[in-house]
Amino acid sequence: MHCVRNITSDVRLIGGSDRRLSLFENVFPVPRGVSYNAYLVLDEKTVLLDTADSAVGAHFYENLEHALQGRPLDYIIVNHMEPDHCSTLGAVLRTYPDAQVVASAKAISMIGQFFEADISGRCMTVKEGDTLSTGRHTFTFVMAPMVHWPEVMVTYDTTDKVLFSADAFGTFGALDGNVFADEVPFETEWLPDARRYYTNIVGKYGAQVQTLLKKAAGLEIRMICPLHGPIWRENIAWFVEKYQRWSTYTPEDRTVAIFCGSIYGNTENAAEILAALLADKGVKDVRLYDVSHTHVSELVAEAFRCSHLVFAAATYNGEIYTPMDNFLRDLKSHGLRNRTAALIENGTWAPQSGKQMGELLGSMKDITVLDCTVSLKSSVKEAQRQALESLADALASSLFSKEA
Ligand code: FEO
Repeated sequence: MHCVRNITSDVRLIGGSDRRLSLFENVFPVPRGVSYNAYLVLDEKTVLLDTADSAVGAHFYENLEHALQGRPLDYIIVNHMEPDHCSTLGAVLRTYPDAQVVASAKAISMIGQFFEADISGRCMTVKEGDTLSTGRHTFTFVMAPMVHWPEVMVTYDTTDKVLFSADAFGTFGALDGNVFADEVPFETEWLPDARRYYTNIVGKYGAQVQTLLKKAAGLEIRMICPLHGPIWRENIAWFVEKYQRWSTYTPEDRTVAIFCGSIYGNTENAAEILAALLADKGVKDVRLYDVSHTHVSELVAEAFRCSHLVFAAATYNGEIYTPMDNFLRDLKSHGLRNRTAALIENGTWAPQSGKQMGELLGSMKDITVLDCTVSLKSSVKEAQRQALESLADALASSLFSKEA
């Protein structure tokens, strides 16, 4: 049975939520599920904005048919061609053969890559600033390459000031009846998943997100309709400010996150001593993560949130302990920059992890590694405890300094 939601007098939400998926993109855990939003605008012409993942395909097709109320589908605007939105597009193209496809040139090319459908006679290729009038509504198209694929655009309804923002302003998390961000405890319960979604999916493309934010700043926006998660109609500036921080790699919180890769617990012991010393020095909200037991997507999100990062790792096969190595390379892939870092290494006969972690961090932009790496040979002794004191001093000094 259909489950169509009225967003405005003539916009319908017709996607669905997947609560069974364990790994989004086959890599990111989604214990709260994920929604695939698609929108139908009922104007003199009917306009479908994006499709949905095949996981919710049955409900999406039913919703679309119901929301159309027997009318033909006139336009399909494709903002983003990633299969979490477009795996049902081929079927929609076949079901509604008279619908015109409206998309960027790259998206139209990708339709041919993903599907056998010949859409050559039913394409409207749009570029920056082009418009489409459908009766009461006039839509304009804003190119947003690499937010999060190169073909992405967002669609702005100039009539009702609604931004259909593709992946931008999306989040993990199923929609449980309430579809507006002001109807859920977003700041407390949704923000960690929004941060994890942004940093892991789009985090690398901060410059491109900045370009989109600058374009969006020139628009009057009353509502943001993303392809994942709740719709924004209140407190939009609060969420835009988060995007501003994340896309400029500006920490949200001045505190220390300690990431620990420990084989038998001795490196973890050093990390715990450091955390306690930091707390004694007045550092609040210190976090300590075991990188073997926390999903790397959560570690990446925390590294984006915190200003000071400590990497504590054993040496393994003469290299960085594998889970830490994976995490650091993921941080580099996501372009994290503008952080203060510190290192703790361990190795029973040849500690190497500190040097190698330093080299990895050195290959990233604007990462300042404090010159007080603590080196353990097997376990913490008095000399290392003193070295951890010095490291805690250096971190607290950097943290509480005005310019850091
Ligand atoms: Fe939600 Fe980039 O797809």
